Amino acid sequence: MSDQPSPYDNAQQLPRVRIPHLKQMKVEGRKWAMLTAYDMYSASIFEEAGIPVLLVGDSASNNVFGNESTLSITVDELIPLVRAVSRTTRRALVIADLPFGSYQASAEQCFHTAVRFMKEAGAHAVKLEGGVEMLPQVEKLAQSGIPVMAHIGFTPQMEHQLGGYRVQGRGEDAQRLIDAARAFEAAGAFAVLIEMVPGDVARAITEAVSIPTVGIGAGSECDAQVLVWQDMAGLRTGRLPRFVKQYADLRSVLHTAASDFAREVDAGTFPGPEHTF
Ligand code: KIV
Repeated sequence: MSDQPSPYDNAQQLPRVRIPHLKQMKVEGRKWAMLTAYDMYSASIFEEAGIPVLLVGDSASNNVFGNESTLSITVDELIPLVRAVSRTTRRALVIADLPFGSYQASAEQCFHTAVRFMKEAGAHAVKLEGGVEMLPQVEKLAQSGIPVMAHIGFTPQMEHQLGGYRVQGRGEDAQRLIDAARAFEAAGAFAVLIEMVPGDVARAITEAVSIPTVGIGAGSECDAQVLVWQDMAGLRTGRLPRFVKQYADLRSVLHTAASDFAREVDAGTFPGPEHTF
């Protein structure tokens, strides 16, 4: 770990984070954090906190729209969320997730969807899930000047095919993931996200490629780490995946605020004279 301050410490004064910055961070052995964001307040708070990369994930499907999985969200639903995040931020690199069904059919379909996210929503890059079958898509985007992050390991859009939320890349399957990461780098991906893969396999992938790896449930050896913000900040209820760490208990904070408000309205103590014209 470097003992120099991160170039992204003074969030507001810095120029936009760009792909070469992330590659340079890998060269220098500096790790970075990525969070999901789906609206203006979360985006601006995370940017002010020094998060260099924001992902407007298809996890908005579960975390914003209340669906059971990421499969339901559409391009038309995700575009306004990406637009909110990219309009609000000044320095974070904003990545738009390509929703299920919007890119798998062909490289052409993928290109047209990615262009919508760049033109209509102001995304700086896109992310797509899958293995080497996605190489034509990644190649097409890279050749068209659209930065693309590949997402390997557990790919939630394939949960039904994969038999649910399961760790990927165990045993002999590890080589498949290492090969896929190498192939994505050769095809022009700027980074590889690795989800729910044993730590030693994620380390091997990280060592095998010169582009940054971003881990979620993939141990500490990736170049970067990502979490869904509602998980990280303690808004989510129920059983959490093992890889989630909660850094706050925002659910209790909001619960207390809302119940205090309700109680004061009920008691007639809000609004007071100071809130009245
Ligand atoms: O959509 C999402 O939130 C993701 C996670 C892996 C961060 O892709």
